[in-house]
Amino acid sequence: MTDREVGGGTWELPACVAAAPVRRRGRVLREALRDAVRSGRLAPGTRLPSTRELAAELGVSRGLVTEAYEQLTAEGYLRSARGAGTWVGDAVRAAAPGRARDLAPRSPGVRVDFRPGVPDLSLFPRAAWAAAYRAALGGLAHRRLGYPDPRGLPELRTALAALLTRRRGVVADPERLVVCSGVAQALTLVGSVLRERGERIVGVEDPGSPEHGTLFAAAGLRAVGLPLDPEGLAPGPLAASGVRAVVTTPAHQFPCGIGYSAARRAGLLGWARSVDGWVVEDDYDGDFRYDREPVGALQGLDPERVVYTGSVSKSLAPGLRLGWLLLPESLAGAVVERKRTMDLGHPVLDQAVLADFVARGGYDRHLRRCRSAYRERRDALVAALAAALPGTEVSGIAAGLHVIARVPARYGPAAVFAERAGAAGVEVRTLADFGTGGEPDGDGVSLVLGYAHLTPGEITRGVEALARAVAPAGGAGRRGAGR
Ligand SMILES: Cc1ncc(COP(=O)(O)O)c(C=O)c1O
Repeated sequence: MTDREVGGGTWELPACVAAAPVRRRGRVLREALRDAVRSGRLAPGTRLPSTRELAAELGVSRGLVTEAYEQLTAEGYLRSARGAGTWVGDAVRAAAPGRARDLAPRSPGVRVDFRPGVPDLSLFPRAAWAAAYRAALGGLAHRRLGYPDPRGLPELRTALAALLTRRRGVVADPERLVVCSGVAQALTLVGSVLRERGERIVGVEDPGSPEHGTLFAAAGLRAVGLPLDPEGLAPGPLAASGVRAVVTTPAHQFPCGIGYSAARRAGLLGWARSVDGWVVEDDYDGDFRYDREPVGALQGLDPERVVYTGSVSKSLAPGLRLGWLLLPESLAGAVVERKRTMDLGHPVLDQAVLADFVARGGYDRHLRRCRSAYRERRDALVAALAAALPGTEVSGIAAGLHVIARVPARYGPAAVFAERAGAAGVEVRTLADFGTGGEPDGDGVSLVLGYAHLTPGEITRGVEALARAVAPAGGAGRRGAGR
């Protein structure tokens, strides 16, 4: 038992108990008591007033208080000993509803954030999306609000198949298209099916997206990093690795920015056939190519060996969590069943909105608008680097939302470059952050600079601040110096 007692006035049951209509008082009292215990206002071990005292204090019948005590004792919130009293249960953990914390990635104190990965979220087509939402909600048959086909709404699969065929040159059979919550879920689904089929390892590009390895690890597969050469994944190490599945970003390698050569694309498919395996094609930013038409997806060359995946994360917004998978026949049934057991299908309203948005041409219009904004930003970045960090070589500029900028060694050792930039409020990532290879000593530092989410002015100011932060002693490296 305990010494702590609820004295008159130290515990205030809301006046609403007495004020409630007579027939509701019992429920109001039980809820108020339960809430006081859960929130910690009544601590474990606290002795409650007797039923007689509390009834008198609240102006209600004693039976009503007895009933509330018994109910909460049965639920475990209170404990009582016959004739001795009633206490707050010891095992009750205070669980105040409180405010939810926001753990979404953000960068406090950063003035300019060049980290790659996000499009300009302020370009999100709110008005067109709202119109698509209204149309979708109005047009969705009641039955469509039931559990959907685990592959996704037929309207969306049809619209996406047409879009991907036209824009990316894939062979898109809507029957083998699965709507999912982004490339992340696509890789998780495929990884889990490969694991069921006995695979234990999977190849990933090195340098590459750290998420590829992490997602496969969560599906029980070990990621084997495979090196790149200027044409794409190097064939020798791939052949020697023993993997039967490899994830690649052939349209615009992440993060190096190269497009796989035609010979390397053919070689990759030849390898997949020779090991009876699969190439997983992550077409994460294939829609953005600035100086000529996008290179068609690898999947179009051999739909039975390539698992194709993409999402709206770079084109619209990652927070929508909407993506797709195009599957070879050998994996389709198992992946669809895995999707079904994972979440019984993707949220239908989101799918209906995207279907309407794509079918009415909103997606194409939005991409055109973004493409012209991003091209201007890319040009601003290239110009700012040339002016403020002369000697910097920029590559991977033809497509995507980021470039590689190789800054000469005189601007400081790779190990401290990002640190100095960060101290000046400029967040950058180096190539070494995305791979195991690192940079040869004394050979400068390669930065992976995302630009799509920054205005041309922010880009210019950011590069100037970066140049000031890493300028070698004596001023070389400032505008016009050090070539
Ligand atoms: C290489 C790569 N693939 C895919 C994605 C997007 O994943 P998701 O479609 O799950 O948002 C990213 C996100 O930054 C990425 O860097």
